[in-house]
Amino acid sequence: RTVYVNGAYVPEDQAKVSVFDRGFLFADGVYEVTSVLDGKLIDFGGHCKRLRRSLGELEMRLDLSDEDLLAIHRELVARNDIDEGMIYLQVTRGAADRDFVFPPEDTPPTVVLFTQKKPLIESALAARGQKVITIEDKRWSRCDIKTVQLLYPSLAKMEAKAKGADDAWLVRDGFVTEGSSNNAYIVTSDGTIVTRDISSAILSGITRQAVLECARDLQMKIEERPFSVEEAENAVEAFSTSASGFVVPAVEIDGKPIGDGKPGPVATRLRSVYIEKMR
Ligand code: PDD
Repeated sequence: RTVYVNGAYVPEDQAKVSVFDRGFLFADGVYEVTSVLDGKLIDFGGHCKRLRRSLGELEMRLDLSDEDLLAIHRELVARNDIDEGMIYLQVTRGAADRDFVFPPEDTPPTVVLFTQKKPLIESALAARGQKVITIEDKRWSRCDIKTVQLLYPSLAKMEAKAKGADDAWLVRDGFVTEGSSNNAYIVTSDGTIVTRDISSAILSGITRQAVLECARDLQMKIEERPFSVEEAENAVEAFSTSASGFVVPAVEIDGKPIGDGKPGPVATRLRSVYIEKMR
């Protein structure tokens, strides 16, 4: 693979980042994951906008314009011959002698991008539906910022795997916030789609925004509010959204089937409508 590091396109085994990088030492960095379909970036504008917000909230600088970022994304797609997959972008506060205090303002940020080939449309997980467990949301209280502090989501996913499930839905005060790396939804018996409202408790998903727009276009009812674990257990269907999974039905929660235990019609419809709209 060819990766991008601080202005240069290099083979992945020649890429170098300092051991003093604050991303490495303090998880002092932010990231974005953009999907690629038919060699084209999906919703790049949305990811750029959210990246700027994450950077702003953490007072981090980045000397590349949206146009520069788009050109780098496209170059990596071309060089790595990506038809379907993802592009990962990470920006950190750069390298400086270890100190909790931010380094001087003229410290250049570290910018890294790489690609991942992955079939996104023909997804085995989306076809069979994911099993989720619920666990306490022990993340910090600024989940609206897409930081590289991903240890807790990683532990949550490991706990899910250990229990024979695919993912963990995180729960704060009895209410689901989101999945370990996706936004979470249920569908109630009257067909209403319920998903947590935007706040610092969740990441404002770029896919979430687009999928809710698809749902509105289809005249589906939407409620943006917290839902409890009990409501999820009694839902007729459930699903999650993310750039890497699009729409993935959830068929089991804490070992109990959701609805009839099969991918539901709302999730299945939204998945195909979303893919058709974005590609
Ligand atoms: N995760 N919530 C969390 C905690 C996430 O990490 C993500 C994305 C989302 C969905 O956001 P979007 O629709 O913009 O991808 C929600 C990415 C895909 C990841 O970490 O790989």
